[in-house]
Amino acid sequence: MTATPDTKTPARKKLYVKTYGCQMNVYDSERMTETLAARGYDAVDTPETADLVLLNTCHIREKAAEKVYSDLGRLRKLEAERGTPMQVGVAGCVAQAEGEEIVRRMPQVDLVVGPQAYHRLPAMLDALDSGAGAQVVTDFPVNDKFADLPKTRKASAPTAFLSVQEGCDKFCAFCVVPYTRGAEYSRPAADLLAEAHRLVDSGAREITLLGQNVNAYHGEGPQDVWSLARLVREMAEIDGLARIRYTTSHPNDMSDDLIAAHGEIDALMPFLHLPVQSGSDRILKAMNRKHTADGYRRLIDRIRVARPDIAMSGDFIVGFPGETDSDFKDTLSLIRDIAYAQAFSFKYSPRPGTPAAGSEQIAEEVKAERLARVQAALAESQAAFQQGCVGETMPVLLDRPGKFDGQMMGRSPYLQNVHLTVDPARRGEIVPVTITEAHRNSLGGVLAGTHAP
Ligand code: 5AD
Ligand code: SF4
Repeated sequence: MTATPDTKTPARKKLYVKTYGCQMNVYDSERMTETLAARGYDAVDTPETADLVLLNTCHIREKAAEKVYSDLGRLRKLEAERGTPMQVGVAGCVAQAEGEEIVRRMPQVDLVVGPQAYHRLPAMLDALDSGAGAQVVTDFPVNDKFADLPKTRKASAPTAFLSVQEGCDKFCAFCVVPYTRGAEYSRPAADLLAEAHRLVDSGAREITLLGQNVNAYHGEGPQDVWSLARLVREMAEIDGLARIRYTTSHPNDMSDDLIAAHGEIDALMPFLHLPVQSGSDRILKAMNRKHTADGYRRLIDRIRVARPDIAMSGDFIVGFPGETDSDFKDTLSLIRDIAYAQAFSFKYSPRPGTPAAGSEQIAEEVKAERLARVQAALAESQAAFQQGCVGETMPVLLDRPGKFDGQMMGRSPYLQNVHLTVDPARRGEIVPVTITEAHRNSLGGVLAGTHAP
């Protein structure tokens, strides 16, 4: 008798990925999920039934590592309660910064994988399966990662992220990124165009180009080195790609060409996240930002000449070492001058290993009080921007179902969420919407030419 070959396919396993932090981590989590799909893992939305849990961590501010350790403690409890084994991995910037220390403190952790090493996950899982102990991989050149991740990426929504650049050479005195993500690396233009084509072919209408310092992009092109402006111009030629955005940028890398692109390329959306951190020249100098507050004001004037309706966003840090009341007032006046459409603000948090961490720190109450005042100023400016949209008609990309039946959420050109009543089958369309209501974090509207119910 001939033996029947065993045709039983191995059971698929369940993977839960928790993403902390920035959009680059959202992108990386998607890429890890794809890589592991090819190795038999299906993504699930909660850890309860997962065979493998990956925490894709962030190290940029406040006790990030502590949050990860407490999540690990919760997972250990969950594993004990349910009585079936759970493999646990720590990925991202905390993995990079803490490395082996994670396994020493939490022996339940099976994998520690730095942001440049995700393509190694299948091999790390193989090693675990063959009985090797915990796997820690934190140092790999970034180009290996992109070259080795699968080239099968598909859009899962009408909006998609595309990482074009990683790392940073700026060394702002507060920031851990140059240490956790390493030196600046730009992916070759041809790879990015190919990935963008795949995203558009699978339904993306809007792509956000990502990088810690995205406007410093300088990738290998067919003949010469491409700037971000060149990349955006070429992407804008892709049939079916209606919208392009990019984030996050440094003021000193806003080249003339990129500013001009904002006036010339319809697909480049009128929204720019351009962190300044402080309005005081003394603090900007201490932060090693290498620009002044007035330099930033003039830059934004030029961008607004190129694209008058551009909506500005930014990041602010309050309570950086040495910040006086007068420095802080300069930040408030910069906020008023720019009239941000939205912005983020943070209390300075000393990051181990960064130059400012050893300086004398500002008292916590002072930081808290300044943060509240900055947030009030930003809220006022954001409310004015939101209110100014009422009565306007703008193209909205219908990107996801809304909270209620028959409702959808969409994205305005200025990155606002817009909810409206519209057939959910129209997901992925860009429709004209007349804005009827402004809320703090969203707008309400009706399809242009129709009336509010
Ligand atoms: N403390 C507070 N905020 C920080 N950021 C980066 N590092 C720190 C820190 N040590 C903020 C900056 C940056 C954003 C991503 O996070 O504003 O632009
Ligand atoms: Fe960090 Fe941005 Fe400064 Fe680079 S430019 S060091 S990522 S804050």
